[in-house]
Amino acid sequence: MSFEKNILCIGAGYVGGPTMAMIAHKCPQYRVTVVDIDPERIAQWNSDDLPIYEPGLVEIVKAARGRNLFFSTEVEEGIKESEIIFVSVNTPTKTFGAGAGMAADLQYWDKTARQIRKHSESNKIIVEKSTLPVKTAQAMERILTSADNGIRFDVLSNPEFLAEGTAIKDLEDPDRVLIGSTQTREGLKARDVLVEIYSNWIRAERIITSNIWSSELSKLVANAFLAQRISSINSISALCEKADADVEEVARAVGMDSRVGSRFLSASVGFGGSCFKKDILNLVYLCRYYDLKEVADYWEGVVKINDYQKERFILNMLNIMFNTLANKRICLFGFAFKADTGDTRESPAIFVAKRLIEEKAKVVITDPKALKNAMKDLRDVAGEISYVEDPYEASAGCSAIAVMTEWKIYGDLDYKKIYRSMAKPAFIFDGRNILDHEKLFKIGFNVFPIGKPGLTHF
Ligand code: NAD
Ligand code: UGA
Repeated sequence: MSFEKNILCIGAGYVGGPTMAMIAHKCPQYRVTVVDIDPERIAQWNSDDLPIYEPGLVEIVKAARGRNLFFSTEVEEGIKESEIIFVSVNTPTKTFGAGAGMAADLQYWDKTARQIRKHSESNKIIVEKSTLPVKTAQAMERILTSADNGIRFDVLSNPEFLAEGTAIKDLEDPDRVLIGSTQTREGLKARDVLVEIYSNWIRAERIITSNIWSSELSKLVANAFLAQRISSINSISALCEKADADVEEVARAVGMDSRVGSRFLSASVGFGGSCFKKDILNLVYLCRYYDLKEVADYWEGVVKINDYQKERFILNMLNIMFNTLANKRICLFGFAFKADTGDTRESPAIFVAKRLIEEKAKVVITDPKALKNAMKDLRDVAGEISYVEDPYEASAGCSAIAVMTEWKIYGDLDYKKIYRSMAKPAFIFDGRNILDHEKLFKIGFNVFPIGKPGLTHF
C-alpha cells in the first residue's frame, strides 16, 4: 500500500510513542515509523506490555500498529525512507563539565543530527519535538548542512505540551499546537507541511505559528510558568500552616479571579516529573549566559521553593513524630510523580524515601503502576525498603502513612481497617491533600495535611 507521507520519529519515549501513535491514529493515509536505539524499548512497543502506562494509549497503539504505525530499531533505514523526521530524543540536565547541573545535555540531540545527515539521500523536514535551549535549531541546521551534499534540510520547532497521565487527551484536543519556522520562503513552506498534518484533527485557530526562536523559548517559559504557580501556592502553604489558614481556601479565593485562574494551584509535597526542574534550570542557564542575573535568580527561586517544600515535609514528619523516625515503619502511598502514570522521574517520593532512610526509618512503598521504577530508583540506597502492591498490606504495622501521589484509589480505601492494623499513635501526612482529614481524625489518626492546621489527639 502506498502512503501520502512517510513520517519518522527518532526517540520512542514518553513523547515520541504517544505523539506518533496519535498521528497514525488520526491520519491512516500516512506511514509513521518510530525508531529508537534501545532495542528493549522497541520490543515493548511491539508487545502488549507497552513501555509506558498512559490511559487510552494501548488502544490506539494496537489499532494502528502494523497498519500505518511501526516501531523499529532500524534508524538508518527509517531516515532514508522518510520525508519528515520528528526528533524526540531525551535532553536531560548536563551532569558534567561547563553548565553541569543546569544546562541541557545535548549529546543525544547532536548525535541524532549527525545520523540524519549521514543517512539522508533526499530533502527532509526536521521537526524539533524535544525541549531545547533557544537557538538549537541553528546548531541543528549547521550540522545538517555541513556535509554540503546538495540535500536540503528545513528545521522546524514544534514543542510538545502534553502532560503525562493525560497525554492522549492532550494530544487529541490540545490547547494549542505551536510551530516555529524561519521566515524564509522555504521555511514557511516546510511549516505549511506540518500545519497540514495537524489539520487532520486540530482546528485551525488552535494551530499557531511563530518565528523559530519564539517557539523554542515558549516551551521553556510555559513549563516555568506552570511550575511557578505550584511553587507560589506551596510557599503560601508554609505560611498557612503557621497562620492557621487553609491553603485550599486561599487557592480557591485567589483562583476565582479570572485573571489568575483556578487550575494548577494545588499545594503538594512538591512538583516532580522529568521536565519542570530540568527546563527551569535550562532557562536559568540561558539567562546567566546572556548576563541577565536578576532574571536567572527570579526563576531559580521556583526550584529552590520546590526543594524547600520537600525538605519541609520531612522535617514536619520528624518533628511531629517525636523527633525520631529511627526503626519506625513508614508507608509511602504512591511513588509516581503524579497520578495515572508509572513514571517516577524526579518524583518527590524519591527524595522523601531517601531522607526517611537517612533518619533510619523502615520504608514501605506501595503504588499501582510505579513499583518497578521505584525499585530501580532506590536500588543503590542502603536501608530497609520494601515494595508491596496492596495498600492494606503495605500500611499494616506502620506508624505513619505519607501520601506521595494523588492516585484516586487512596481516597477510596477503608481507613478504619487500616487504622486497626497500624502501630499507635498512627499518623497520616497527606502530601497531596486528597483524603478526608476530618473523617481520618475521627477514626483515630493524627492527620497532617499540606497548608492546613494539623488534627491531633495530643
Ligand atoms: P524519554 O527518555 O522517555 O525518551 C527518549 C528516547 O530517545 C529514549 O528511548 C532514548 O533511547 C531515545 N534516544 C536517545 N538518543 C537516540 C538516538 N540517537 N537515536 C534513537 N533514539 C535515541 O524522553 P521523553 O520523556 O520522551 O522526552 C523527550 C523530549 O521531550 C525531552 O526533550 C523532553 O523535555 C520533552 N518533553 C517531554 C514530555 C514528557 O511528558 N515526558 C512532555 C513534553 C516534552
Ligand atoms: C508538564 C506540563 O504540564 C506539560 O505541559 C509539559 O509538556 C510537560 O511538563 C513536559 O514538558 O514534560 P507533566 O510533568 O507530565 O507535564 O505533569 P504536570 O501535570 O504538569 O505535573 C507536574 C508535577 O506538578 C507533578 O508532580 C504534579 O503532581 C505537580 N502538581 C501539578 C502540583 O503539585 N500541583 C498542581 O496544582 C499541579
